[in-house]
Amino acid sequence: MTNNINVIIARDVNDGAEKRVQVKRESIDLHALPDLDVLVDIDYSSLNYKDALAVSGRAPICRRLPMVCGIDLAGTVIESKSGAWRTGDRVLINGYGLSETQWGGYAQQQRVSADWLVKRPDTISSKLAMAIGTAGYTAMLCVNALRDHGLTPADGPILVTGASGGVGSIALVLLSKLGFTSVAVSGRESTHCYLKSLGASEVVSRDEFHRDSKALERETWAGAIDSVGSKTLACLIAQINYGGIVAACGLAGGADLPASVMPFILRGVTLRGTDSVMASQVDRQRSWQDLAELITMDDLETVCQVEPMSQLPQLANALLKGELQGRIVIDVNA
Ligand SMILES: NC(=O)c1ccc[n+]([C@@H]2O[C@H](COP(=O)([O-])OP(=O)(O)OC[C@H]3O[C@@H](n4cnc5c(N)ncnc54)[C@H](OP(=O)(O)O)[C@@H]3O)[C@@H](O)[C@H]2O)c1
Repeated sequence: MTNNINVIIARDVNDGAEKRVQVKRESIDLHALPDLDVLVDIDYSSLNYKDALAVSGRAPICRRLPMVCGIDLAGTVIESKSGAWRTGDRVLINGYGLSETQWGGYAQQQRVSADWLVKRPDTISSKLAMAIGTAGYTAMLCVNALRDHGLTPADGPILVTGASGGVGSIALVLLSKLGFTSVAVSGRESTHCYLKSLGASEVVSRDEFHRDSKALERETWAGAIDSVGSKTLACLIAQINYGGIVAACGLAGGADLPASVMPFILRGVTLRGTDSVMASQVDRQRSWQDLAELITMDDLETVCQVEPMSQLPQLANALLKGELQGRIVIDVNA
């Protein structure tokens, strides 16, 4: 029996001159995994925006090297030194520093801390867990932020930016399931049919939001889920109805925020930051229960595609070039 597993690993390739990071597929000994409590046999991981940055080397996501990439994983416990988990438990992890400071999910097996694991609800297979992945679980956190603010479908439409991406696509599915009217913002003409099939009542061009915002614009949206940031976020804040809310989770368009305080002080608009990486176990478990009630694999048929781990470098570049849509599930055994 071999003790080797395949991983996608970032290593410091010091060629004498400048520090360089190389990310590639390798076969490593099982004993090289971190000395942590629970060994998980991984079925699937996924490709998120942050994963694409890590695998392509476009941003210093991996803060320790060597680093096994992949911010998500789903599989089954095969060894546990923790009383909280037993062999055979169906589990998933999103975030908790995976691929940043902790070895992640682009591996056939991984040793992880018992504290990071979430039990997969009965209806969530490991494939569905990764079709949802960090992007979908973040979309659920955002939708719950709107619901906790008191928004109901009767309050008016919800704007979703970066709509054909992972967060945006799953946000549209969730809003539709909950009876909200949603309007999608997308930079791609080619995705309009796809976005309407996910529940968007209308698709607005990215250009309408990629401009300098006025301090206040016409009140149009009860709420918004934003994964783009920068001018787009500033514009939509200026268009939120009195007392409305924006759940902001991303920076696909930039990390700045050239906005006015007017919507906050004259319309009582709430800007709610959403972080998935270190979200509490209470918020995670609530989100995954909600996802289990709202989403099936059938709902994601047009949203997700399964790809082999060996294709990750090409997929990461395609995602960053805006050539992909929806969610990419990574089969770590292929
Ligand atoms: N806070 C958190 O915990 C958390 C969790 C997950 C993701 N995120 C962040 O959320 C963002 C989206 O993640 P994702 O996984 O959904 O990524 P993704 O699948 O790559 O989707 C991003 C989408 O944003 C749009 N977009 C891309 N470049 C843009 C630009 N320059 N200006 C405006 N729109 C642009 C594109 O949609 P269209 O072609 O339809 O316009 C693209 O599909 C990322 O910034 C990610 O880091 C944060």
